Amino acid sequence: MNQPQASSTAVVAKGLENVIAAESAICFIDGLQGKLLYRGYNIHDLAEQSTFEETAYLLWNGELPSREQLDEVAGQLRQERQVSDDVLRIVRDLPQGTVPMVALRTAVSALAAYDPEADENTPEANYRKAIRLTAKVPTLVAAIHRVRQGQEIVSPDGELPHAANFFYMLNGRKPDEVEARAMDLVFVLHAEHGFNASTFTARVIASTLSDTYSAVTGAIGALKGPLHGGAAPRVFLMLEEIADVSKAESYIKERLARKEKIMGFGHRVYKVEDPRATHLREWAKQLAERSGKSRLYEIALEVENIMKQEKQLACNVDYYAAVVEASLGIPWDLFTCVFAASRTAGWTAHILEQQSDNRIIRPRAAYVGPEERRYVPIDQRS
Ligand SMILES: CC(C)(COP(=O)(O)OP(=O)(O)OC[C@H]1O[C@@H](n2cnc3c(N)ncnc32)[C@H](O)[C@@H]1OP(=O)(O)O)[C@@H](O)C(=O)NCCC(=O)NCCS
Repeated sequence: MNQPQASSTAVVAKGLENVIAAESAICFIDGLQGKLLYRGYNIHDLAEQSTFEETAYLLWNGELPSREQLDEVAGQLRQERQVSDDVLRIVRDLPQGTVPMVALRTAVSALAAYDPEADENTPEANYRKAIRLTAKVPTLVAAIHRVRQGQEIVSPDGELPHAANFFYMLNGRKPDEVEARAMDLVFVLHAEHGFNASTFTARVIASTLSDTYSAVTGAIGALKGPLHGGAAPRVFLMLEEIADVSKAESYIKERLARKEKIMGFGHRVYKVEDPRATHLREWAKQLAERSGKSRLYEIALEVENIMKQEKQLACNVDYYAAVVEASLGIPWDLFTCVFAASRTAGWTAHILEQQSDNRIIRPRAAYVGPEERRYVPIDQRS
């Protein structure tokens, strides 16, 4: 009788660390230099000079757009912002207290049922769905929040850029220039990040030739976890719990002594500062100075220093994103939804890339279970 292959000699890359799972032309990360490029463009240049619409075009098409191309994609995104009443009804019917990411995952999945192109898997149809989903996810996030607050859903404003319109739909007021810039920056910085867990999830689903909505729904599920996009809300809760700079040191040291992870620190790829954190820290500072409310920012700085001293760990994107988004008045339990709204651009770029040269993603496990054994009928089992 053949026994299962012994696996003790197989090299297992737990968590797929350092495994190169495919070629990709979308994102380059040098974790030792703290370098991040989208399609060859440095994140610092994009953060300072680009917009979300331009960045999304770049991710999908591989090149920065001309003025006409940018106007066209921005127009397409604006046109696709509306979400049908059928899907909004699903959002309204969810029980009070539904976690926003659960509501978003459900609503994005439901969008497929109302898109006649949902199962058309041509590159052209998938490009249109990339635009459609990227346009509609912010509308859904805002609607999810308004509904749970018992407020009217705010229709998209066709005059506003993508990120500013999200702010408007969420708050029912237009952002001022600084708020609009900060919101756009959050969207640019979260748009893409290589083979992270949610993007890889999207690619695995896309590799079965399943549809874009399934892939994005799965990606939202992966992003929700506290080790991924679920870290930012926990950063906020931690900073609030610390409450005062003077309490930061004992708070962090106690948790480190209990071997707890401090949210917003550490990264699988970056061993130095995440370049996105550099911009978010700067904006957290600016927004704190502007509002005169600097408590959260100051606690964040102190925790960062302590983590450097104690663990030599740098913060990641989620850390100061929490402070920036809180300063923009975004409720903490929406932070991961904002991340999803932005990352939809990156997820869909990867879905397009995966299906342009597809092979089903199907790794193997090193089997460590029992060897083959005789089946024992139930009445003979001891
Ligand atoms: C991002 C993360 C999941 C990467 O995980 P990973 O590559 O598997 O790294 P590990 O969890 O194996 O961590 C390696 C070491 O650093 C420590 N470490 C990593 N992140 C830490 C954190 N946030 N707080 C305290 N210690 C941390 C681990 O305890 C481990 O130490 P050890 O070798 O002494 O056991 C991990 O750093 C983490 O959980 N961070 C907090 C959650 C977070 O901010 N996620 C958002 C990521 S953008």
